[in-house]
Amino acid sequence: MRTVHTLKELRVILQSYRQQGKRIGLVPTMGNLHDGHLSLVQKAMEAADVVVTSIFVNPMQFAAGEDLDNYPRTLKDDQHKLSATGNTLVFAPSVEEIYPRGLTNQTQVVVPDVSEGHCGASRPGHYDGVATVVTMLFNMVQPDVAVFGEKDFQQLAVIRKLTTDLFLPIDIIGVATVREDDGLAKSSRNGYLSAEQRSLAPALFRVLRDTAEQLETDPQASFAALEAAARQQLSDQGLRPDYINIVHSQTLKAAQPQDTQLTILAAAYLGSTRLIDNISITR
Ligand code: PAF
Repeated sequence: MRTVHTLKELRVILQSYRQQGKRIGLVPTMGNLHDGHLSLVQKAMEAADVVVTSIFVNPMQFAAGEDLDNYPRTLKDDQHKLSATGNTLVFAPSVEEIYPRGLTNQTQVVVPDVSEGHCGASRPGHYDGVATVVTMLFNMVQPDVAVFGEKDFQQLAVIRKLTTDLFLPIDIIGVATVREDDGLAKSSRNGYLSAEQRSLAPALFRVLRDTAEQLETDPQASFAALEAAARQQLSDQGLRPDYINIVHSQTLKAAQPQDTQLTILAAAYLGSTRLIDNISITR
């Protein structure tokens, strides 16, 4: 497995793979890899001949006051984990490589509608930063297929929409969230939790599961009442809810009684750490 840091090196290597007729897969990450990321690489390896994993902590998707400076940068460990998966190539560019003219005048990709609401409302500009860097990575790698986790359900919807709207010839694959034994979704941000916060964190998925069960068993249940009850349960269990929204799984709009595919999107704080999760049901 090779690691390259510049677009120039990346293009030389990928051109040779392309000449050999190889199908190229991309797994964009911000590093600090855990089993969730490795499951994305695994999926990419099933779908492509060569897999590029990008590791780039993208400043454009962090607002002022968020955890950009503290975000864990663990390239050596990440390389070690990736080499065990059979991953082909790591692309670990510097901020200057991706934004050579700085961030201020950078052209941005804004994906209307699905970027709005939920995490988009709590983190204004976040999905513009994600959509911009992912589009840049798509142009740099020109993959046949790209793989993303379902843990950030809204992010996956944003990326699917930009790929469709911009006619990008890339198959987007979503992969189910990998969880700890107690149900907590694996996330780089779990590392910020104190021991006490870590013991409280599984409540997020527990509440999602209970709410999903009620949605499945009671077709008449009021969405607003379920959301309010879920928020209360999170508070009772020591989390500070940001939002719990029951939405249509494709449009991410507030669910309507006749909808059959529903997703519950949630974000909650433990101290200053913001955790996200979701659960989908068909009824
Ligand atoms: O999900 C992430 O890790 C990031 O948002 C992504 C897709 C790598 C873009 O920076």
